[in-house]
Amino acid sequence: MSSALTQPDEIQLGPLELGILADIASGLACSVIPDGQDGFEGIAPQGGDLRRFARLLHTPGYEAWLIAWEAAADLELHDHGGSQGAFYVVDGALVEAHADLVDLAPLQTLLIGAGEGRDVTPTRVHRVWNPGPARAVSVHVYSPPLSSMTFYDDQPGTFLTPLRTDFVEGAPEPGGAR
Ligand SMILES: [Fe+2]
Repeated sequence: MSSALTQPDEIQLGPLELGILADIASGLACSVIPDGQDGFEGIAPQGGDLRRFARLLHTPGYEAWLIAWEAAADLELHDHGGSQGAFYVVDGALVEAHADLVDLAPLQTLLIGAGEGRDVTPTRVHRVWNPGPARAVSVHVYSPPLSSMTFYDDQPGTFLTPLRTDFVEGAPEPGGAR
């Protein structure tokens, strides 16, 4: 009998279903513990950055990040490079303005409070910000792990015009306030 083991990076996995990703995000949120001082375990303050993050998990099939948003932290309209995902607000609240690259409907805006989450389909684009005044903390899960993100114009007349693409290496959504 062979004793060879398959290395995790050699396993080929398709994207996980949205419902599973939402369960992973909400489940991980239960393990995130506020430290009572300046944030949550796993996220260290980094100077004056309004948005900080730490990767909780990375597998061939999906990854998960913990993100802390100070008041007014704002990530411009972006996609997820074809990955799908889910996010879950652990503390505070976030506002999401979202649209879709296929149906091209106007942006719709939602307030997402602690204990709530949203699915992110592969064609969903969104801008996410913390309306304040309190810090917000959220868990984000992507499958497959993020490889790139394209940022888009959100102005009338040029809505959804691509502005730039960032290739992701070790960080989710690097175009925000880092
Ligand atoms: Fe996003």
